Amino acid sequence: MYPLKRNRRLRTNEAIRSLVRETIISPNDFLVPLFVVEGKGVKEEIASMPNYFRYSLDLLEKEVKELWSLGLKSVLLFVKVPDNLKDNKGTEAINPNGLMQRAIKTVRNACPDMLVMTDVAMDPYSSYGHDGIVQNGLILNDASVDVLTEMSLSHARAGAHFVAPSDMMDGRILSIREAFEDEGFYDTGIVSYSAKYASAFYGPFRDALDSAPVDMANVPKDKQSYQMDPANRFEAIRETEMDIDEGADIVMIKPGLCYLDIVREIKNAVDVPVAVYQVSGEYAMLKAAAERGWLNHDAVMMEQITAIKRAGADVIASYFAKDVVKLLN
Ligand code: PBG
Repeated sequence: MYPLKRNRRLRTNEAIRSLVRETIISPNDFLVPLFVVEGKGVKEEIASMPNYFRYSLDLLEKEVKELWSLGLKSVLLFVKVPDNLKDNKGTEAINPNGLMQRAIKTVRNACPDMLVMTDVAMDPYSSYGHDGIVQNGLILNDASVDVLTEMSLSHARAGAHFVAPSDMMDGRILSIREAFEDEGFYDTGIVSYSAKYASAFYGPFRDALDSAPVDMANVPKDKQSYQMDPANRFEAIRETEMDIDEGADIVMIKPGLCYLDIVREIKNAVDVPVAVYQVSGEYAMLKAAAERGWLNHDAVMMEQITAIKRAGADVIASYFAKDVVKLLN
């Protein structure tokens, strides 16, 4: 007695497999993170992120043109701030002529149709490496939200299409949305990092921007008082629903692979686009294993990206974006 139903029929050859494939990756899926530094002619590889670079503005211009030619139409900007410009309040973040503000203009000029999103967080600007103002060993919420709101306005004035607050302070989405409406930035959107976990996978990113929390008395050693506990699920739904109520246009879950259960749950629960950030540590892990010949880089990369999309990601922020698109071509 053989089975009448044979699932393998749909796997017989590539033609039938591609006919019934449920998840298709395209350049439209990606948001490309970019690291920017001061200087001229600078393209520095990040030690813990092989083949990923920090660019000075002149080379950023070249890079975004290349991304555009590959069909990658959205970027997420991060800046590395010199130590002498850092303070507890992230003052440099709202400098209208700061590196971020100039980077936004550079991309807008180089590639007028490119969608420009900006990371809104104090840590690259903070002398303590935190996403909020530090006082007596604590991270102040509301005072930090005021800074994040000013920072968002400053990015909007420079021409950002979307701001992406990645700090996890309470109430920041509402504050930013209200400030945008007050200033007439009706079309400037908010991608909220709404379920951002206190993850150990951010290490290489903090190397890239030199933004790790400093080891100092009366400064929290980690970000657990604001980023979420990896053990929690309901909290992710609550955070995300609150951000949507406050005015988030797109919500984000971060990191990616370890949190795909959360991605699916949020995708089922909300009706706004869901973004997933495949973070620096996820990138570094695969690069390291592939360098040793332990994993097939391209095959594992595609499997991971496909899994993220299958789990429910409408948007994928990934350091692999360019590698994936080159492979697709
Ligand atoms: C800044 C920020 C971080 C990341 C994105 N925005 C670091 C952090 O919160 O410590 C991490 C991204 C990555 O690891 O790729 N708040």
